Amino acid sequence: MHSFRYVQNRMLCESVDLEALAQKHGTPLYVYSKETITDHFKRLDGAMDSLDHLVCYAVKANSNLAILHTIAEMGGGFDIVSGGELFRVIKAGGKAGNCTFAGVGKTRAEIEYALKEGIYSFNAESEAELRLINEVAGAMGKKAPVALRVNPNVDAKTHKYISTGKSENKFGIDFDRMLEAYAAAAKECPNLEIRGVQMHIGSQLTSIDPFIEAAKKAVPLVAELKKRHDIKFFSIGGGIGIVYHESLDSGDVNWWGDKPAEERPLTVQSYANALVPILEPLKLRILLEPGRFMVGNAGALLTKVLFLKQGNAKKFVIVDAGMNDLIRPALYEGWHQIAPLQKSTNTTLEKVDVVGPICESGDFFAQDRELQPVDAGDTLAVLSAGAYGFGMASNYNSRPLAAEILVDGKEAHLIRERQTLEDLIRGEHVPRDDKEGK
Ligand SMILES: Cc1ncc(COP(=O)(O)O)c(C=O)c1O
Repeated sequence: MHSFRYVQNRMLCESVDLEALAQKHGTPLYVYSKETITDHFKRLDGAMDSLDHLVCYAVKANSNLAILHTIAEMGGGFDIVSGGELFRVIKAGGKAGNCTFAGVGKTRAEIEYALKEGIYSFNAESEAELRLINEVAGAMGKKAPVALRVNPNVDAKTHKYISTGKSENKFGIDFDRMLEAYAAAAKECPNLEIRGVQMHIGSQLTSIDPFIEAAKKAVPLVAELKKRHDIKFFSIGGGIGIVYHESLDSGDVNWWGDKPAEERPLTVQSYANALVPILEPLKLRILLEPGRFMVGNAGALLTKVLFLKQGNAKKFVIVDAGMNDLIRPALYEGWHQIAPLQKSTNTTLEKVDVVGPICESGDFFAQDRELQPVDAGDTLAVLSAGAYGFGMASNYNSRPLAAEILVDGKEAHLIRERQTLEDLIRGEHVPRDDKEGK
């Protein structure tokens, strides 16, 4: 579902008028719907009910404390990729014991921190990493719970930058080397407790087929590892794709109706219907690591039109948000629907590029897009920006980070203050000759 829709030609998030929010807090402004996040969590959790399972939200998709708290409150676990993400989860009220720690480059300090806090499992991505975890655990007098990430060499059929399950990707251990890697860990690493297996083939998958192919390939291996090493869990990763073309006139989750397959999302039901029968015979705890599915449709980036510019080739709508606020179009050719907060009754459309103020040609939100004519001062919503939006934001061009709002029914909570100019230079020092500055 999504919770952004027009009511009497004004865009609301749940019951909150977005133009009023933009006036109060300024733009660029990220706005998230709590209703969508809880709905998505509960639907996925419910669809997997017949299995012993834990939904571990992939924190990287959006790591604001209020979002993590929302998920922790529902009993969710977390998939983290850094010590910083673990710190956030704990601050938000999440349990380290419900966290898995992914990533190809964990540092000694991060491993020590995660062991001290008692995470559920390190999902290790190389033998070298296993040896380091073993060494750190030994020095701390602990046993480290570990899983290895298998690279099943399956094509996720998504953008090459978010495809992770092919042999040429840096992630995981090659499928045919897994038994050997587990045997070596069992033999040579006395401070490890071999607890599971992990897999994640990519992000924004819109077809169930690669998930099925990967699961069918992995399940016999996982069963064998259960026999040999008594593993307890299998994490099937994240990757469930979302619809970036929203319907703003209907909150109906089935609005895509008869759209072609590539424009339809996976539904949680079709995902569960396909995967549960493949996973069930393992009789293991199944972990899921959804990121985008949980928060993607839950967020919008509000931005104000600064200027209109007619060039020889194109008309540009220049807005006050940039690629530093939302980098998906520049980074992975991500497509976002853009809609004005006030819908015009005039149905004529004009073709424009919606661009930001940053000095890069890649700084755009849409190219050759048919939009209702807009004027300077209008506010636009860049929709489905809740995942990999703020989390990837930067201060490039010395632009302060945007504020974030969590809407809950009629309430709008400020969950991150807009950065100030002073915030921009916090911690920086100019070397001086005098001792004071050193
Ligand atoms: C290991 C792992 N798990 C889960 C995810 C979440 O993926 P998604 O947001 O597509 O669900 C990612 C994304 O990069 C990941 O690397």
